[in-house]
Amino acid sequence: MHASEFAPVFRDEPDDRTGVVVAGLGTCLPRAEISNAVLAERLDTSDEWIRTRTGIAARRRAAPDSSMTDLACAAAANALRSADRGAVDALVLATTTPDRPCPAAAPEVAHRVGLGTIPAFDVSAVCSGFLYATATAAGLIHAGIADSVLVTAAETYSRIVDPADRSTAVIFGDGAGAVVLRRGSVREAGALLAFDLGSDGADKDLIHLPGEREQPAGRRWFTMAGRKVYLQAIERMTHSALRVINDCGWTPETVGAVVAHQANARIIGAVADRLGVPPEAALCELARVGNTGAASIPVALADAVDGGRLRPDARTVLTAFGGGLTWGSVALTWPRLAPVRTEI
Ligand code: COA
Repeated sequence: MHASEFAPVFRDEPDDRTGVVVAGLGTCLPRAEISNAVLAERLDTSDEWIRTRTGIAARRRAAPDSSMTDLACAAAANALRSADRGAVDALVLATTTPDRPCPAAAPEVAHRVGLGTIPAFDVSAVCSGFLYATATAAGLIHAGIADSVLVTAAETYSRIVDPADRSTAVIFGDGAGAVVLRRGSVREAGALLAFDLGSDGADKDLIHLPGEREQPAGRRWFTMAGRKVYLQAIERMTHSALRVINDCGWTPETVGAVVAHQANARIIGAVADRLGVPPEAALCELARVGNTGAASIPVALADAVDGGRLRPDARTVLTAFGGGLTWGSVALTWPRLAPVRTEI
């Protein structure tokens, strides 16, 4: 879906239409850091191969007694603290790695974070999940169903990645991020200005975790056709990001920050290069966390803000690609906010 028709479009002229504004940002990462050297002890790989092919030096792994929902709760609570709010009207949670098939995790997160009986549900769009959840939350606000929504993305890839598979074990990590969205004006910094979402189920097998019917026996692991995914990720994110840049009436050279799904430093560089944005706009924040799936964009946003690489009022494009296949982008001007980050 090309969703700009439902999102307000910003063209540098006075405009008092309702906007959906980013008001808080929180993350939670597991404390345990697994370095490339540790993986190279048991896999046929090397620190040098992983760094040069992916840009990743380490990834986090959730403690055995810590769940995806635990990470989600901490990130959600941190986003509320960052927004200086104790309540929201709805919660949307994106994950590829639910602790259980049923029920969804979002109601439990809402309950544990003290949000009461608000509507809460999960979305499943793999590494595009955060942007799909953000678009869904924006829809709830535009429809008048909610004035504020907590969007949370959390992953425990370490529970579905085969530790013996060097092509996935070196890439994926655990973590969670969340943002508070609230009703506001399209003129405010932080307003979401344009969306683009898409999917292509013809390539569903490129990123895959079989179900019981597909694989009745044996341990089921997550698999990825690395090279094909690499090429599709560049192609889809570039096209999607260009659509939102155009919808905003921006030109690529005026974009201050592109926060692409943090899958691989080479993918991030190639997308920025094809978009024609300034090289310093391509924010690469994956060195110490790897690919945290749906959580990668909010985790990267928090790192970039705290590192001074993402500044208020920067024209910002978020773009993601994941299994499904799915992809999506959103454009906004970055707001002034202080992320709240914790580790468990
Ligand atoms: N260490 C050493 N060699 C490895 C390796 C590792 N960790 N992982 C794969 N290789 C090998 C492959 O087996 C292959 O060997 P072969 O040529 O003998 O068959 C060789 O490296 C090249 O593999 P290829 O997949 O073509 O490499 P690449 O440059 O594309 O890098 C990825 C591999 C996985 C890093 C890369 O494809 C990638 O990042 N893909 C996208 C991953 C991603 O972002 N997924 C999430 C998107 S939602």
